[in-house]
Amino acid sequence: MAQGQPEERQDAADIAQHPQDGAEEAPSAEERLMAAAAAGDGPLVAQLLRDGAEPACETEEGITPLMLAAESGSAEAVQALLEAGATWHAQDRDGHTAGEYASGAKQRHILQQLLDWAVRAELLLGTISRREREGEPPVNRDYLSSSIRYEEGEAGGKLMDEQGEAVMMGWETPLMERHAAIICASGGDVLNVGFGMGIIDGFIQTHKPRSHTIIEAHPDVYKYACSQGWDKKPGVRLLHGRWQDVVDELGPFDGIFFDTYGEYYEDMHDFHEKLPKLLRPGGVYSFFNGLAPDNMFFHLVYGEIARLELGRLGLETSYAPMPMDASAAKIWEGVANRYWRLPVYFVPTCLMKGLAGEAAAATTDAGQLPAAAPAAGAAAAAAAAAACTR
Ligand SMILES: C[S@@+](CC[C@H](N)C(=O)[O-])C[C@H]1O[C@@H](n2cnc3c(N)ncnc32)[C@H](O)[C@@H]1O
Repeated sequence: MAQGQPEERQDAADIAQHPQDGAEEAPSAEERLMAAAAAGDGPLVAQLLRDGAEPACETEEGITPLMLAAESGSAEAVQALLEAGATWHAQDRDGHTAGEYASGAKQRHILQQLLDWAVRAELLLGTISRREREGEPPVNRDYLSSSIRYEEGEAGGKLMDEQGEAVMMGWETPLMERHAAIICASGGDVLNVGFGMGIIDGFIQTHKPRSHTIIEAHPDVYKYACSQGWDKKPGVRLLHGRWQDVVDELGPFDGIFFDTYGEYYEDMHDFHEKLPKLLRPGGVYSFFNGLAPDNMFFHLVYGEIARLELGRLGLETSYAPMPMDASAAKIWEGVANRYWRLPVYFVPTCLMKGLAGEAAAATTDAGQLPAAAPAAGAAAAAAAAAACTR
């Protein structure tokens, strides 16, 4: 993090105020913008931007004016930069965004400001990309028609795809145990989307639900589930197909868990749209919370987007932090992409309130975006593309 000393900050402020004084060569507009942002000088940042300074400029280390303004704690400078088109999700060479700069400097109000902006921008982008996606083939079509293999080994084994990526891993067992307890809290009828290694299904069975439905799309995973006797267990209905093709004939349920593979946030969003019909009032929904897990700020942004969208559908969402250490190198041996790096897992509990759609808790949706948000929304495409559910 760029934690400047007080004297350095004073120098930066001086450069911003007096570009010619004592300088051999006058600093560029962008250097002055950097300096003004670091000094937290909101009016000057706004003036420099109006005069044409480039808001998306960066140092050799990838540090942007937005990161410096975030660290300085100036809400005015941050707002001016965002409205001028600064990208909220730009990362420095260490992978830190303006969000991490704000949180590193304990500027909680700036963290909230950035979070609000990012969520609004991404909500808008979501509605645009959904419109563009209509009629397209399944995003994980290749995975669903390729081979998979179950491997025994470190931390409970794993399920691998043809590319050497892990579809599911045994280290997630404590997470699945927790999710199962959440969705089975009221007993009744339970739905699990995505069998994988059947870990959560094993835990669901320990809660003795009235009925237990499983949807699995991959033919070989389905065969594996049958080989383990899941197609013959009393009270269990194992369905082969994509949830998109079978879910409209099902429900309602008292508990639902969603955990697929190779799909994107937008697919999960589509599933969420089904919840008012699928989940009984008082029912509980939970999902594998692997949204944008490479960076804590992105993870927070997508968690908040999910919370708002679910709120609009009548579900009240809370996240319970659960320490999750999956850092041992041995766990990831032979896995092409380490998909979990965060030290904490935020377990979602989403409660369906009253009648479906009645108690909309969301205060933000794409229809309420400020006029300046579209530019940032379009620029956020890279971050949105990274938001795989797994
Ligand atoms: C991460 S695994 C689920 C792991 C599971 N929660 C467990 O405890 O073992 C994801 C599963 O979702 C399946 N899947 C992927 N896309 C799907 C879809 N559209 N509908 C249903 N299942 C899908 C995959 O084949 C895979 O078996």
